[in-house]
Parts: sequence; structure tokens; C-alpha cells
Amino acid sequence: MANRGQQLLEELSLAFPVERRHIFDRLRAAAQRSSLRIALVGGLPREILRCQFSQRERENLYDELRDIDIVVEGDAIRFARELYRNLPGELVVNEDFGTATLTTEGVEIDLTSSRRESYAAPGQLPDVDTSGVRIEEDLGRRDFTVNAVALELNPDYGAMLDPLGGEADLRNRQLRILHSASFHDDPTRLFRALRYSIRLNAELEPVSMAAFGRAIEEDMLATLTPERVRYELYCISREERWHEIWAVMDLAMILPGLHEALGGISSWWTLEQGSSLDIVLRNQKEVLEGTDIEPWLVRVAWTTLSMRDTYFEAAMNRIGIFPRHIRAMVTARHLLVSVPERLSSSMRPSEVVDLLEHFPRDSVALAFLVHMPVDDRGVSTRRALLNYLLEYSQVRPMLSGHELIRLGIPAGPAVGECHRRLRAMRLDGHIDSEEDERNVVLRMVNLGEPGADQASGDDG
Ligand code: CTP
Repeated sequence: MANRGQQLLEELSLAFPVERRHIFDRLRAAAQRSSLRIALVGGLPREILRCQFSQRERENLYDELRDIDIVVEGDAIRFARELYRNLPGELVVNEDFGTATLTTEGVEIDLTSSRRESYAAPGQLPDVDTSGVRIEEDLGRRDFTVNAVALELNPDYGAMLDPLGGEADLRNRQLRILHSASFHDDPTRLFRALRYSIRLNAELEPVSMAAFGRAIEEDMLATLTPERVRYELYCISREERWHEIWAVMDLAMILPGLHEALGGISSWWTLEQGSSLDIVLRNQKEVLEGTDIEPWLVRVAWTTLSMRDTYFEAAMNRIGIFPRHIRAMVTARHLLVSVPERLSSSMRPSEVVDLLEHFPRDSVALAFLVHMPVDDRGVSTRRALLNYLLEYSQVRPMLSGHELIRLGIPAGPAVGECHRRLRAMRLDGHIDSEEDERNVVLRMVNLGEPGADQASGDDG
């Protein structure tokens, strides 16, 4: 009869689509061929245990999967090459770190040699020693007990490795660090603590809570580079309950610890508004198409909307937002201040375009998504931004520049001006066919001035 660990692995495999289930067999077979001890660790054992405890559904486990973490007792790179022979995909090897990633059919398998870590200074990446380290010892270098449970795949298929009591903590919804210097060694765990506490509905047990407080008080956040902060905020802002995590980051003094102007931002919005933002992001996906903005960045822009311009750029730099994204956010903020008072509900589409086309599309998209109307003016701003993004900005005249010249418009700036006027007439519904355009152009040429008869578009 299958033991408990084997049942868990069986359940896990069922959570995968049929055509991906062979991944676990291939992992096991490659380990057998290379006589290596390997185990599944991290997110997958944790999440499948949560399914068993009815803390979550199994159905969406695969969709939410980010990676499969495998710890190899011995040479993970040798194992990766062996695996690659029977599991085609893209293999990326990092000799310096003793790690490899094999991406196969969209699934990322992270392979790591079991290791011992030591930290020369807080916030820096650790020094790593992989020689003769057992998987059980590797589990002891991790962040929380709930992430230090492993399921062996070879040789003892299904053995549960839980030397630190992670399963019991998971069942009791306790988040527990493994040693008192954990947050000092790796302050990114401060972010991870809040992320998992919300995701797992767990609380930091008292000793871990005290260590968390000490790390904040001793300003361990200051040891993190902006890049490392950005990665944590990226992970947080992609969580289902991202707004709750942002709110606790504020209360737990992480945000003010990163930059004083970030302190208190959560008092400007409610969780309901955060959920409304998600509805807009879901319903208006096409707004972000063709832009360089991802939903997690929209959430960052939204949570920080209340900040004063004076501090905005410095705070965004501190949290590692790329300069081009900061520029898009700053412009979106300016747009939301300057444009609404110039927009009116009676404006013609061409006037809306005149007002908005000077702003980069990324900023208009951001402005639309983060803007939450509180009055009629807000509602019409929102409508105008959406119309612009999805409709007006796509409108182009049918006649090309060459055709305009052929019809008699002089080469040079007049062509652009003529195009602009044709577009305005098309936007405002005065013309709608190529023939209409040709007639308008011919009339302009006859009058000797491109667009001189704009008003005559009213009669076609
Ligand atoms: N880990 C750690 N300390 C960190 C980051 C990661 O100890 N600062 C360990 C944990 O054991 C974690 C594993 O590495 O479970 C894999 O990390 P990651 O892929 O970031 O998280 P998952 O646990 O897989 O969870 P999820 O992606 O669902 O957040």
C-alpha cells in the first residue's frame, strides 16, 4: 500500500494536466540512472499538503505553479544534464551556483545541489558549500518551516522529509523561522513572511515575530539592493491578496523602512478599492496590450498614487522600479491632474485625441487603470480615456501620404496636416469611406489649402 508521501505525490501528479504528468516519472528515472538522491521541495510539497488540510483547492494548483523546486544530494548540474536527455526543453546551467533550470513545455524545473549557506554580511547573497551536504541539512538553511518540507523522489520514493515540523506548522497556520538570525541573514524574508502570512492565513509565531521586529528596528531593509526589493514587490503584487500584503507591509513598517514617503500610503485606499482595481484589470485586459506595463506594475502605481510628486521618483528608485516605468507612472500622475479639467462630456472624439495623443500610450493606459472616479467629471474622464485607448487612437485615414501627394497635396508638412484633418473628420463621423476622403482632399486642393474646408465635411 502507498505510504503517505506516495499518496501526496500521487495527488500532486493528478493536479497536473495529463500531458505534463510524465515530468515526475522522468525526474525519478533520471535520478535512478545517475544514482542520486533527489527530493521535491518548497512550494509544491507545501501546496499539496494544504490541499490535504482543505486549506485550498487542488484545481488551480497547476495554474498557479511558478516552478518545480528539486534539491539534489550531490551534483545538480550532472543531474540536470541527465534529465535533459529524456526531457527536452531549454537547459540553463549556472556552474558558479551549482544550479540549473530546465524549462520544458512551459514548466520551469529548478535544480539545486543541497547546500550549506553562510552569510558574510546581512542582505548579501550567501557563500555556498555543497560538499557532502544531506538534503535534511539543506532544509535547515531555508526561510520558514512550512517551506522546509521535502518529498523524496529517489531512492526512497515518497519518503516525507520534515525534520523541522513544517507539516504541523502548516496545519496550525504558524509561520516559523528556523533560527533567530534568519531575517538578518536574508532580509527579503521580511517580505516573504508577510506574503506567506496572508496567502496561508498564518501568523508569525512569537519568537519569529520578535525576530521580525528586531530586523526592522535594526534597519536590515537598508542592506537590500533596489533589485532585490523589486523582486519581492513583484512577487507580492502578483498574489491574489496583494492589496492586503501591501497594507500589512505598511503597518509592519516595511514600507516606511524602504522610504519614509511610502509610510502611510495604505490609509489612502481600501481593500474594496483594491479589489475593484482587479476587476478593471480583468475586464479591460486589452488596455495593456501593446504596452510595456504589466498588471503588477499597475498595482504598484495604484497603491502609491497618494504620494506627493516631490518624493515619488526617489521612492520608486528605492524599490527598484525601472526608470522607464517610473517615467510612465509620473506622466500618468500628471495626466490625471491636468487632463480631467480640460475634458468635458460634450467633447468631440477628435478633441479628446488632440488632448491625449501627446501622452505616451503606456501612461494613458496606466492613468485609465489607476483612476477611480468619485464624481461625474471622474466618470467622464474614465470614459474618455477608455474610448481613446480602445477606439479613437486606432483611427487612421485610409489614404496614404503618397496618395495625398498624387491627389495634389504638396509634399512636406501639408501631408501631415491633411492626414490629421482627415483623421479628425473620420473620428467625428463626418466621413467614413475612402471615397469620402478623396472628395475632401480634392476640395482642399481646389481651395488651395489643405483642410481649409474642414467644416464642409459636415455635408459629406
Ligand atoms: N527560500 C528560502 N529563502 C528565500 C527564498 C527561498 O529559504 N529568501 C527557499 C524556501 O524553501 C522556498 C524555496 O526556496 O520554499 C523556493 O523558493 P520560491 O520559489 O521563491 O518559493 P516557493 O516556496 O516555491 O513558493 P511560491 O513560489 O509559491 O511563493
